[in-house]
Amino acid sequence: MNTQKKVAILLSGGGSNMVKLVESMGPDHPARPVLVMSNDPQAGGLQKAAALGVATDAVDHRPFGKDRAAFEAALIEKLDAVQPDIICLAGFMRILTEGFIRHYEGRMLNIHPSLLPKYKGLHTHARALEAGDTEAGCSVHEVTAELDDGPILGQARVAILPGDTPETLAARVLVEEHKLYPAMLREFATRG
Ligand code: GAR
Repeated sequence: MNTQKKVAILLSGGGSNMVKLVESMGPDHPARPVLVMSNDPQAGGLQKAAALGVATDAVDHRPFGKDRAAFEAALIEKLDAVQPDIICLAGFMRILTEGFIRHYEGRMLNIHPSLLPKYKGLHTHARALEAGDTEAGCSVHEVTAELDDGPILGQARVAILPGDTPETLAARVLVEEHKLYPAMLREFATRG
């Protein structure tokens, strides 16, 4: 019997973090990827996941309009069909309601591109530059009902350099995200 925990990954964009997570889950890993899901059927990350041999699916959020509960019910139905032990948000850009989060409480992780508790929400790198910070980074945390607020599992830091723009800083932080998230997933899957 396969004792590896089942991981579902949710993304909205290019999915570079998803690729690193999937690549990290080899045969000796405590978890394995079973599904990559997106709210955007055109998300580049879905093709990358398929190329890696992982099942993919999407629930387009647009037809649901403002009805977040109905969108999330459709998402939950597809996710629960594969009975995930762990959900990884990896650049998933829809705000999730408390109902969804409670459904997966204690088994959902997120990567956020700031040194939480600083800069919850969007435009983290521009805000760090505007504030005159000397360092930036990323955080992996458990997802709780409050946005970007759950227990922090780990962080990685980078220096902010003279001349940095939000783009150059994002690229430097992303390199660290690609190391931090796989490390934190392994730890979480081992302990849980
Ligand atoms: C990453 O930088 C991730 O930290 C960020 O989106 C990017 C996704 O890149 N997530 C958030 O801002 C969540 N609010 P990727 O699709 O290449 O992994």
